Amino acid sequence: MMDSLSAAAPAAAHAPEFDFVLFGATGDLARRKLLPALFDAHAAGALHPRGRILALGSQPLSHDAYVAMLNDEVLPALAGNASAWQGFLERIVYLQVDANADAGFDALAELINARAAPVVVCYLATAPHLFATICAQLARVGLAGERSRVVLEKPLGHDLASSEAINAEVARHFAEDRIYRIDHYLGKESVQNLMAMRFGNVLFEPLWRREWVRQVQITIAEELGVERRGGFYDGIGALRDMVQNHLLQLLCMVAMEPPTSLSEDAIRDEKLKILKALRPIRTEDVAEKVVRGQYCRGAAGGNPVPGYASEPGIAPDSRTETFVAIRAEIANWRWAGVPFYLRTGKRMQSRVAEIVIHFHDVPYPLFPHPLGTMAGNRLVITLQPEESIRLYFLTKQPGDTQALLPASLDLQLTSAAPRVRRVGAYERLLLDVIRGRLGLFVRRDEQVQAWRWVATILKAWENTTAPPKPYTAGTWGPAASSALLSRDGQAWHEEM
Ligand code: BG6
Repeated sequence: MMDSLSAAAPAAAHAPEFDFVLFGATGDLARRKLLPALFDAHAAGALHPRGRILALGSQPLSHDAYVAMLNDEVLPALAGNASAWQGFLERIVYLQVDANADAGFDALAELINARAAPVVVCYLATAPHLFATICAQLARVGLAGERSRVVLEKPLGHDLASSEAINAEVARHFAEDRIYRIDHYLGKESVQNLMAMRFGNVLFEPLWRREWVRQVQITIAEELGVERRGGFYDGIGALRDMVQNHLLQLLCMVAMEPPTSLSEDAIRDEKLKILKALRPIRTEDVAEKVVRGQYCRGAAGGNPVPGYASEPGIAPDSRTETFVAIRAEIANWRWAGVPFYLRTGKRMQSRVAEIVIHFHDVPYPLFPHPLGTMAGNRLVITLQPEESIRLYFLTKQPGDTQALLPASLDLQLTSAAPRVRRVGAYERLLLDVIRGRLGLFVRRDEQVQAWRWVATILKAWENTTAPPKPYTAGTWGPAASSALLSRDGQAWHEEM
């Protein structure tokens, strides 16, 4: 499946020798996602034996203290194969580096130059306001040259202007083909499978257009709340955290035209066309086409949980949204007039990420249709918690009747290839950076366009006195979210 794009290569094909410079190595992302992903790659034999991880943090930790922290906080959460852990630790060197002081960067350069690995990956898992300084420091010590790549974590800025300011600073030191803007949704197996499904089969593509598709829904629902990230999240909100990147990238994968090849720019060119074709939501239409919500006290997993405004690190009068639903439209020949409903939220009823393609009803109903029009053909692509593809259709109810019965064809993707090791999103993307594959990373023009599209929504929210609509934790969001669809005679997939 898409071998030229993906890093899901056999274990034997390990990546070239590398130095992986991890800025923010004591932070939440490094501990929860990046180090476990590198560990998985290590345990699978996918990393070059001499590849090193240079873990950089601002804390004055000894190497042993850093390793003790990893033993306490990373190791317990690793699934299986912890026997490889010792070997993994041997790859790690901790260095104290303050972005605003030269000394740490001088020491880093010395360490890297002593080995001269052909690939140097600089992963900036830090606050974005440090990106420019770090890149300038890397350039100063000669670490921004041809063998170096820089990985930028989101959020890249908080609006178009600030993200472009960061992009411009980074571009002073790194060429675009050495900048990897990460969106971990693009690394998910199921998202790549969407391409395989659409463009590796003849079955769906003829139907994948306005003539046959009535509406499309894309949902990323989380059961978790804001957790320990309150201080960070409160200045961000769901539109910047999830819509500007993950949801719009999924939309592109669903809606784009077939690329001319699987090369990185062929795919990114097609995604860009979709972002450009997204009909801007005018400020005066935001109240009608966009729902923003904030969770209040409720339940999660059967336990009571506090409302967003009572979470640690959140201002009690915060107007930050934890839920967004949007009615989007794509102005091109394939999709004109087809609503794309996008939705994401924290503290929702369950954790699910799915894409639902609703097809039109048959042109003329021959059968008695007591099920209502909503029970027709639907393709449900579930990305999380399980990967599956389910096609709903109508079949004859058994017995002495002509009535129809909904049925489905199910493809469980994990059981389709049970013995193949699953590669996590971050692992795949980190291996892609080491191997120099840009296809699953966001190009600057895509990012600009995505920010441009959300800008009018942000602006309208800044100028309104209306607070986000409350919803009870553990539900599917505010009632206005259902109303957004019912105005079109539609309903969210789980309400059908
Ligand atoms: C991150 C967001 O990008 O994605 C988080 O910053 C969110 O707020 C996370 O929880 C969701 O990712 P996943 O892979 O768990 O669905």
